[in-house]
Amino acid sequence: MESADVTADLTEVLLTEDQILGRIAEIAREIEIDYEGREVLLVGVLKGAVMVMSDLARELRKVDVEMDWMAVSSYGQSTKSSGVVRILKDLDTDLTDRHVLIVEDIVDSGLTLSWLRENLESRGPASVEICALLRKPDAAKIEIDARYVGFEIPNEFVVGYGLDYAERYRNLRSVAVLAPHVYA
Ligand code: IMP
Repeated sequence: MESADVTADLTEVLLTEDQILGRIAEIAREIEIDYEGREVLLVGVLKGAVMVMSDLARELRKVDVEMDWMAVSSYGQSTKSSGVVRILKDLDTDLTDRHVLIVEDIVDSGLTLSWLRENLESRGPASVEICALLRKPDAAKIEIDARYVGFEIPNEFVVGYGLDYAERYRNLRSVAVLAPHVYA
């Protein structure tokens, strides 16, 4: 249950904590099969992917896992993607011959991820795949081959489980639609 003042900012809970954790467990089983006998480097995209990364990493038991983080610019204070991607924090890890799995909160326009994938592929890894908890319909416009996708959601601005609006709501356990009056 979320606190009362936050509930007034949300119009609808799209995904409960149970649904999210259940789906992440399913994805983890797929990853364990696909990466059997290999070590996977999870690359979390700060800050939105913190919760997915944390739950996914702990759910992976049959493969060796390392974690690293990148921070890239995204929406700032607005709700529209600018298409401009800047590295704010780079990886500490050399990607040569590594199996890289990018962990993201959401694919919206796909601009961030397509740029990021290309950037990481240029560093000589053995493979680069994408795991995104959420995908919006606009993601279809640009070719994003995300191997693991948790949920397809409608084209609405959502918060919670790592996703923010102006840095708020990341700590909600569910994913919910932000009420337009909050950003209008
Ligand atoms: P894209 O480049 O349009 O795919 O946007 C990617 C980034 O925008 C995500 O990693 C999020 O940080 C942010 N984003 C996109 N849609 C939402 C949303 O509905 N709520 C919160 N953040 C979002």
